[in-house]
Amino acid sequence: MMDIKKDIKKDIKLLAIESSCDETAAAVVVNGRKVLSNTIYSQIDLHTLYGGVVPEIASRKHIEKIDQVIRQSLSEAGCGLGDIDAIAVTYGPGLVGALLVGVAEAKAISFARGIPLVGVHHIEGHISANYIEHPDLEPPFMCLVASGGHSHLVMVNDYGDYEIIARTRDDAAGEAFDKVARAIGLGYPGGPKIDKISREGNPDAIDFPRGKVEGSDLDFSFSGLKSSVLNYLNGCRMKGEEFSQADVAASFQKAVVDVLVEHSMHAAALRGVKTFAIAGGVASNSHLREAFEKACGERGIRFVHPSPVLCTDNAAMIGAAGYYEYIKGYRSGNDLNAVPGLRIGEKTGVYRL
Ligand code: KG4
Ligand code: ZN
Repeated sequence: MMDIKKDIKKDIKLLAIESSCDETAAAVVVNGRKVLSNTIYSQIDLHTLYGGVVPEIASRKHIEKIDQVIRQSLSEAGCGLGDIDAIAVTYGPGLVGALLVGVAEAKAISFARGIPLVGVHHIEGHISANYIEHPDLEPPFMCLVASGGHSHLVMVNDYGDYEIIARTRDDAAGEAFDKVARAIGLGYPGGPKIDKISREGNPDAIDFPRGKVEGSDLDFSFSGLKSSVLNYLNGCRMKGEEFSQADVAASFQKAVVDVLVEHSMHAAALRGVKTFAIAGGVASNSHLREAFEKACGERGIRFVHPSPVLCTDNAAMIGAAGYYEYIKGYRSGNDLNAVPGLRIGEKTGVYRL
């Protein structure tokens, strides 16, 4: 592992901004690991009325809230913009209108105050949340990223050096949680609700399929599972039978967890990894954590995961990822734009000094 901080003597304080979906967030992070503040304004209550995130409403709310969230974050960290060494901002992937609010704000502060700027990849941020939670964690390690928009197995070969091992061919894991929750009447956001109600259900009540992808043992597919749940519910309705929300939730969740753990352990064995991490909103699922704890324990692999507040969208994780980009010499200018389909490892509007 390279010593990337050898030429930088002083502590580096980053102001991080995140607005890719329905959380307006800002954080102050020192040296990528120490969080001085992590302010999150969640719009969930607003979007719950519509059963999912409404992009236009998200953008408008970000505009309304972003100044206030940044001010609060600086104040909780006990510092002003004059103490900030660099600004890190999520510039993709995500909702374009939502991303643009954070990017425009970060560029404006950077320009007005002459503070260096670095654009950060949202998923690289999710992975980096593990650096905050585990101060001794260093690459290489493998990470399962499971969020509302992504399901990826990523090999983190070094800081900022990512290799995609597997991806979903259709729905993301979180998306499946949200859709199934809606279908069984739990509402939005589905993940936490399924997590909770599953404690009262029988995970073996219904044998839902474990999605397979032809030609790949590692890629994920969740759309077949989702259809299978919908078919089961339709079948119950047609027969005039009641279904148990808790049993459907528990059985669906077990199918997702089984697949995520099985593919992850397969990939970990192929690569001989010693440390396995999880990240993203779905990583806060209590059953998933327990299953990984067990599977990794049996194989002598160290298992790490961020605490729930660092799993779902937040800006501290962007500060962690941004720090390693910053000390490697990556910078963005006023041409930084939102890139809704940004790929992991892609640099668009991020240049090396
Ligand atoms: O990472 P995240 O906050 O936003 C994206 O980048 O997508 O992930 C949100 C997703 C949603 O689909 C939500 O239902 C899911 O994470 N989620 C969970 C849990 N908490 C959030 N899924 C399963 N169990 C949970 N406890
Ligand atoms: Zn996210």
